[in-house]
Amino acid sequence: MARIEAHVTWLCVVVAMVVCLGGGVEAGRGLLQASCPSPVLPDVNLPAYLGVWYEIGSTALIKTRTESGLACITARYSLIQSGPNAQSIRVRNEGYNTTSGEYSTIIGIASVTGRSLRVSFPPGPDADYRIIYLKGDAEDRYDTAVVYSCDAGQSGGFQSLYILSRKPTLDSDESVAGIIEYARTQGITLEATNQFVYTDQDGITCGRNDD
Ligand SMILES: *[C@@H]1O[C@H](CO)[C@@H](O)[C@H](O)[C@H]1NC(C)=O
Repeated sequence: MARIEAHVTWLCVVVAMVVCLGGGVEAGRGLLQASCPSPVLPDVNLPAYLGVWYEIGSTALIKTRTESGLACITARYSLIQSGPNAQSIRVRNEGYNTTSGEYSTIIGIASVTGRSLRVSFPPGPDADYRIIYLKGDAEDRYDTAVVYSCDAGQSGGFQSLYILSRKPTLDSDESVAGIIEYARTQGITLEATNQFVYTDQDGITCGRNDD
């Protein structure tokens, strides 16, 4: 009996250590702000937002997870015309896997409610997807977009930011620093461990996101 209790006690110590260590790691990448901010959301002319976007870059945690080892990352958005998801947006993300030498794609769905979007890549859960910045004419399909996602419900909180452009580089009147500063004025503070990272984009070989 005593031996079993001793075992249970030891097990509890081990479990507590794991939980504490885990907690420490989580806290290290927690949201700087206590909860998700509410940036101003511009009006989005959805048809003008469709088509192919080059990812100029995204935040470090995304780079080490879903985008690990990928170059030439693009997104193609198209309107779903019919069926149960009619009027939602089909999302086709593509990247060149520098290890395998092949393009990999993932298809998701973004549902739109007013200015607020949720995106999911089945069977995964859906996530916050907020277009916080748009530049260029809607008549001309916009030039630059910034997408922000924040989930305070995840342990430690999780946020990500993506800068998208119609071309493999930003327009000369835009800068990453300027966009990050704009995000800061909207209450978005990127953690030291989750700073902006450029995506490798080659103007000649990248950007064939076409089916
Ligand atoms: C890239 O390819 C390697 C080798 O096939 C694979 O292990 C890795 O998961 C791929 N990365 C992504 C992000 O798909």
